Amino acid sequence: MSTDTRQAMALLFDRTAETYDALGVDFFGVFAEELLDRVDLVPGEQVLDVGCGRGAVLFPAAERVGAGGSVLGIDLSAEMIRRTAKDIEARGVNASVSLMDAQEPTLADASFDALLASFVVFFLPDPVAALRSWHRLLKPGGRAGVTTFGADDPRWAAVREVFKPFVPPELAWTLTIRASLFATVESFGQAVESAGFTGVTSVERVCPVKFADPVHWIDWSWSQGQRMFWELVPENRLDAVHQAVLAELEPLREPDGSVVLAQTVRYTIAHRG
Ligand SMILES: C[S@@+](CC[C@H](N)C(=O)[O-])C[C@H]1O[C@@H](n2cnc3c(N)ncnc32)[C@H](O)[C@@H]1O
Repeated sequence: MSTDTRQAMALLFDRTAETYDALGVDFFGVFAEELLDRVDLVPGEQVLDVGCGRGAVLFPAAERVGAGGSVLGIDLSAEMIRRTAKDIEARGVNASVSLMDAQEPTLADASFDALLASFVVFFLPDPVAALRSWHRLLKPGGRAGVTTFGADDPRWAAVREVFKPFVPPELAWTLTIRASLFATVESFGQAVESAGFTGVTSVERVCPVKFADPVHWIDWSWSQGQRMFWELVPENRLDAVHQAVLAELEPLREPDGSVVLAQTVRYTIAHRG
């Protein structure tokens, strides 16, 4: 993946920023809270939130470290940074944001007690090199908390299949994002250890994510990384793909009309010795 692909990803997230995590779906915020519980921040700590997006991790982290601590969020999407900076100002919290590439953040070594990276490491061209650079940013004894996705919900396989014909070879990696070093708790744990971390532990949790109805899922999918798959569909096929997704989701409806995605999330905690 080249720098251009990274920029393309940042521009994709620019287009999601307005509605990102704002469509009434319990997703990023829920997983952020569990990550923070596991990292166990204490008041006064200096925290880095890598790929901060709209602040799902940053705002609760700022609350936990209190006025004596601080949180810096970095992201490569200018629009995410702009909007999150406005929210920080409006809320008056002890946090700041900066436009920066997570692959190799240009920050001083040993400056953070904790580093958090929620659903970002798999977007990076060289995840192990990124983890190595994050390790350097931690003070000795500091810890990192990283969330990644576990296995896809098999009940939703047909929905994912609808988009596959539109994914060009150069973007095939986006379909196998859960493969290779992210495939299992063990393979990801080894990758984190090879970046220099010690005491690496991971747990996976399956969390039901509820959408009011299939259209709610479609709207939500446009508001986050999944939007990339919609944008690969030619304009004249969009309506047909929309209908195909609705048809695949119809049999999954619960008695109340909702659809529920069983989302597996992996929480990995690692330490700088
Ligand atoms: C799925 S979102 C997660 C955002 C946030 N951590 C959360 O939990 O809601 C991924 C974020 O990573 C950012 N991102 C993607 N590639 C990046 C890179 N190379 N450097 C920094 N941020 C990046 C995107 O702009 C986006 O805000």
